[in-house]
Amino acid sequence: MSPTQSQGKPECLDEIREKVLECCKCPLCKVRTKPVPGEGYGKVMFVGEAPGREEDLEGRPFVGRAGKLLRDKLKEIGFEDVYITNVVKCRPPNNRTPHKEEVEACKPYLEEEICCLKPELVVALGKTAAKALLGFEAPMKELRGKVRVVKVRDCTVRVLVTYHPAAILRKKSLLKEFVFDLKKAYSLVYKQGKLF
Ligand code: URA
Ligand code: SF4
Repeated sequence: MSPTQSQGKPECLDEIREKVLECCKCPLCKVRTKPVPGEGYGKVMFVGEAPGREEDLEGRPFVGRAGKLLRDKLKEIGFEDVYITNVVKCRPPNNRTPHKEEVEACKPYLEEEICCLKPELVVALGKTAAKALLGFEAPMKELRGKVRVVKVRDCTVRVLVTYHPAAILRKKSLLKEFVFDLKKAYSLVYKQGKLF
């Protein structure tokens, strides 16, 4: 990481990372290759569902095909430094959706990441992230594109939901809305600044 990227990065992020690297609070720790802690530092936090195959092998979030799509779009739009993480930090077998118990066991790390980083915006990628952050489920069509204010422990954050990049790979027609949402996220953070 370059000196500018790490400037101002709070120590608590490294502490969370260390805890994730040693975690065995749920059965996924027995079947993972590597745990995948969040990485980066910046005003925006992106939250996915759980590591996939490539992420499990590398121990880094969003480094596979869906990750490439996400990272390419972020670069195109002009996002500077971002923090990228997942609701669940270890890969579920065959990329199945994480079970409720796994989400519950792992969610404290996400809450700590939010309260430590204090991002100006959290972007929830897909249903699992939206449910974990908003506390309710609804069709993606209703959830996406809106900014909601959410209380996480004693921190307040803005959450914007959009599609998971893997959903874009399966259904190309969603790309337009995905990019629209990412541009909205960009303007909220880099053009309007802090709303509270
Ligand atoms: N999908 C996710 O939800 N997270 C990753 O890190 C990679 C793919
Ligand atoms: Fe720990 Fe989360 Fe991995 Fe389960 S998924 S072992 S709670 S880091």
